[in-house]
Amino acid sequence: MIMPAAEALHGAHIVIIGGGSGIGRATALAVRKQGASVTLVGRSLEKLEAVAREIGGANVRVADIVDRKAVEAVFAGLLVVDHLVITAGSLGGGKLAESDPDDLLAAISERISGPLYAIKAVMAAMPSTGSIVLTGGQFSDRPSGDGVAVVAAAVRGVEALARSLALELKPIRVNVIAPGFVETPLFDALGAETRSAVLAGAAAALPRGRIGQPGEVAEAITFLLTNTYMNGEVLHIDGGGRLV
Ligand SMILES: NC(=O)c1ccc[n+]([C@@H]2O[C@H](COP(=O)([O-])OP(=O)(O)OC[C@H]3O[C@@H](n4cnc5c(N)ncnc54)[C@H](OP(=O)(O)O)[C@@H]3O)[C@@H](O)[C@H]2O)c1
Repeated sequence: MIMPAAEALHGAHIVIIGGGSGIGRATALAVRKQGASVTLVGRSLEKLEAVAREIGGANVRVADIVDRKAVEAVFAGLLVVDHLVITAGSLGGGKLAESDPDDLLAAISERISGPLYAIKAVMAAMPSTGSIVLTGGQFSDRPSGDGVAVVAAAVRGVEALARSLALELKPIRVNVIAPGFVETPLFDALGAETRSAVLAGAAAALPRGRIGQPGEVAEAITFLLTNTYMNGEVLHIDGGGRLV
């Protein structure tokens, strides 16, 4: 039986790795409103607890997604996980001429190795009706010369990973959310002035004329979770950013 989308998450247990801020936090808010229970995972307990309070209660687990043992420990105590959403990721990047390649490869660890550890660890707890949402990004289609080469490779890899895993894990669904510029704490690492300049510049160039909001991306993630025929898909939510 196909449940109405508004009821599909009622009583579901959703693990959100990266749920302590930005898109993950907004997703936690959205799915809680639909009656899901949530386990929030990230590196900062303080951030996770703040979101848990905000959404009226959640399990919180501290883990760095690139630490396999820590990720396995998160899932060891979870009997049923209906959906897994992974939004963990940091800004990183840098131009190759000015960077140590090993530092740049952290983007691959966060977006490929980490999700592999998490998906392997969640398998035993996920029913056949379950689904996984990974996070890609606009740089997959629209790279820039600003030091995002390895991030672009990583997010392109996320798309390939999702499509293959949709076959391997069938009938569990595996999809990718691919945001463009979204106003989140991700850019705080740039410092206030550069952050404002980067986001204002991006907004001016976008067909939509503004930066996206985390709630808009959360709405798209909720769609990927609840539409039971979406599978192996990359859902772009970028204000038209790939067109310019
Ligand atoms: N915002 C954008 O414009 C944009 C555009 C395209 C793609 N994305 C991608 O969307 C995802 C979410 O970004 P966001 O904008 O929501 O950023 P955000 O507000 O910084 O949220 C990212 C979350 O992931 C957690 N995290 C980061 N590295 C982690 C790790 N190694 N292990 C576990 N948790 C980790 C962070 O918490 P802790 O620091 O506590 O771990 C944080 O709560 C990222 O993968 C980002 O690359 C964002």
